[in-house]
This record gives sequence, C-alpha cells and structure tokens, in this order.
Amino acid sequence: TTNQSWGGRFSEPVDAFVARFTASVDFDKRLYKHDIQGSIAHATMLAKVGVLSDAEREQIIDGLKQIQAEIEAGEFDWRVDLEDVHMNIEARLTDRIGITGKKLHTGRSRNDQVATDIRLWLREEIDIILGELKRLQSGLLEQADKHAEVIMPGFTHLQTAQPVTFGHHLLAWFEMLARDAERLADCRKRVNRMPLGSAALAGTTYPIDRSVTCELLGFEAVSGNSLDGVSDRDFAIEFCAAAALAMMHLSRFSEELVLWTSSQFNFIDLPDRFCTGSSIMPQKKNPDVPELVRGKSGRVYGHLMGLLTLMKSQPLAYNKDNQEDKEPLFDAVDTLRDSLRAFADMIPAIQPKVEVMREAARRGFSTATDLADYLVRKGLPFRDCHEIVGHAVKHGVDSGKDLADMSLDELRQFSDQIEQDVFEVLTLEGSVNARDHIGGTAPAQVRAAVARGRELLGG
Ligand code: ARG
Repeated sequence: TTNQSWGGRFSEPVDAFVARFTASVDFDKRLYKHDIQGSIAHATMLAKVGVLSDAEREQIIDGLKQIQAEIEAGEFDWRVDLEDVHMNIEARLTDRIGITGKKLHTGRSRNDQVATDIRLWLREEIDIILGELKRLQSGLLEQADKHAEVIMPGFTHLQTAQPVTFGHHLLAWFEMLARDAERLADCRKRVNRMPLGSAALAGTTYPIDRSVTCELLGFEAVSGNSLDGVSDRDFAIEFCAAAALAMMHLSRFSEELVLWTSSQFNFIDLPDRFCTGSSIMPQKKNPDVPELVRGKSGRVYGHLMGLLTLMKSQPLAYNKDNQEDKEPLFDAVDTLRDSLRAFADMIPAIQPKVEVMREAARRGFSTATDLADYLVRKGLPFRDCHEIVGHAVKHGVDSGKDLADMSLDELRQFSDQIEQDVFEVLTLEGSVNARDHIGGTAPAQVRAAVARGRELLGG
C-alpha cells in the first residue's frame, strides 16, 4: 500500500519524477467549478436512488461549496502528488468532512467524471464565444449601415476589379462569421451530451438514474454507450475545427486591415489604441492587433491537428493519452475568444478614408465591365463587347487616361454604338447602383442585407 488513493495494490510509491510527469493538476485545475458542479449533481442523484443518505448528500454538497469558495479565494493548496483536479478536490473533501467524503466517488470513475467536466466547461465557453462573435457581427452591421454608400475598389488577384461599396465588403466578413456561429452552435449540440454514468468503461452496478444528473447538469441527452462515453473526444476536435475556420476568417480580415492601414493603400484609420510603435523608428504605428490575430491562427490549426493525432489509434475505452486533450482545447478556446474580443472592440473604431478609397476605385479601369454591359444593352454579343472594351483600355493605358476621362469621340473609335449616355455607366455610383439584386453591392442592397443581419442576430 502507498499513500495514493489508488495505492492499495502497489508495493512502492510512484517515482517522484513519474508523479510529476503524469500529473495534470497544473492545467486541469481550470475545470474546478465544473468538477464541483458535476460532483454535486452526482451526490444528489446518489441520494435520490438511496445509495447515499440525505444527510450524507448535504454534508458532501456543503463541503464541495466550501472548497469552491476556498479555490476562488486563492486559498486552496493544489498538490501535484494528488495528480489532477478531481483527486485534489476529493481529497480535500475528505479532509473537511471525514469519511462521508470517501463516498462521493461511488458509482463513478474519473473517466466519466473528466469527460463530463470538459463538456460542461466547453459548453459554457462556447456560449461566451458566441457572445463575442455576435458583438463583432453587430459592429460590422453598424459600420456597413453607416458606410453603405462609400465606394472602394473591389479586388480579384489583388488587382482592381470593379467598384464595390465599403458596406458590402464589411458584410462579406459578416457572412463568414454567421457561418462560424452556425458551426459552433451545431458543435454545441454534440458537446451537450452527458457521459456521466459510464463509470470507468462498462457502467456501474449501482442503481444510478442518469436522467437525474442529466437534468441537473442541463445536458440534452445521456451518451448511449459507456465505452464510447468515456473515450469520445469528437466534440473537442469539432470545436477545434470550427475554431480553426473562425481563426482563418479572422486572419483574412487581419490581412486586409494590415494592407489597408499601410501608407500604400491608406484606406482606413485604425485608432492608436489598437496599435503600437517602434523602439527605433519614431514614425511607426503598427497594426499589432490584426497582425497578432493573423499569427495566432497557426496555433489553433495546430491544436486541431494535435487532437486528431491524439485520438488516432486509441483503442477503446479510456487511455491516459486523453489527458493530453486539455491543453490544446484550452488554448484553442482562449485564442479564439480573445481574438474575437479584440476584433469586436476594434471593428466599430475603424474609419474609412472615403476620398482615398474613392480615388483608388476610380483608377484601374474598374468600370470596364460596366462599359461592356452597356454595349450588350445596345445589342452587341458580350464577347465582342469584351474585346472592344479591351481595346479602349489598351488606349487608356497608353495615353494615361481612365475610361471616364476619354471624350465621346475618343470612345467612339472603338464602337459607334457608344453614345453620350455612356458617361452615366462609367461613374462609380452608376456602377455600384446597377448591381441591385440580392447579394449585390448596391447601397440599397447593403441596407437590405444589414436588415437581414439584424434579424438574424435577433433584432
Ligand atoms: N487526469 C485524467 C485526464 O485528464 C483524469 C482521468 C484519469 N483516469 C485514470 N484512470 N487515470 O484524463
């Protein structure tokens, strides 16, 4: 026998380094609140089915609540020799309330306990993340509404393509985030299943009532197979997959913000509070927040791959490998939540430089497609129009003039179908206003999309 709670069959104490090497308390103590919540539900259920007396249940619950207060006051002595959060709390409970504390673990294993704790914890974190996502989405809607008519160049291949409204561009980001929110809400459904009652792997001989704990803990359903219940970490992988996608989106926004704040683009102003300076170059104002978020996407992709690899080849049921699920999951949650928070704070503060954007949209023959469409309306086949406008652009490149700067005679060299009314379609307003269908860039459509977005977010 050793002094460990599982030491009965051991004839020597665990090696000191092995004890530290196998311990998880340094990081899993983060689960303390959910561990206590799960234990309170378990004790309540055990009393209900007659395995514990009501007095024992009360003693256990009181003890656990005091331990929670101790932890939150920073007075709890976390012991590495007690391995993990579960055994630390259980040992402390027995210190406090004596022999009854030793009854809490009846009909339960750390295997179903830890799987339950992580799910309770992740469910709460997903709700916080969904709140930050929504805050960011609302900020985008406000900005899109305010700047529905601001015109900027739209790009493909990072080359000027066609004019778009700034509001429309912001709403593209909104759409990406709406999919992220949908994915996280869907992932939450599978997080919200309760493995408690699976015990070590095969279930338990006690007359447990899983529906009681399920209801107390607010789970949607109990897991249907005890072997799967203790070993399933799909929900954590799914979360990391959804988080990786969301970080990829934030990284793309970041890249655009970094480009747009450069003096070469100079499209937006990012307030000083989201930037830092240089220790050597006095003129510098660097867009650190977007750069850092772009960089942080890497670790979340890594955690997704880490968890997939962790689970690959694990035989049923619980294996100690699973202890390695926590750090990647915790870090993925922290990284996504903090990145969203930074963006939700920052996006309402960005200011478009309307004149610079407009000037950039005017350059680069951004209304060339509009001219081709104009000729189609005059009865020419589109491919011919494409070629005609191509010649006009070539002339423009050679003479340093944009299409709208050419005279009518100059334009008519390329097609006698071109008439005075061409100049309306060559304006930026003409171009964006003409794309007036659902999903198009016209200011009227931006406003309609903002209204739909507000509805989606619940008013
Ligand atoms: N600390 C462990 C984990 O994080 C708890 C479960 C350990 N169970 C066991 N039989 N060793 O997964």
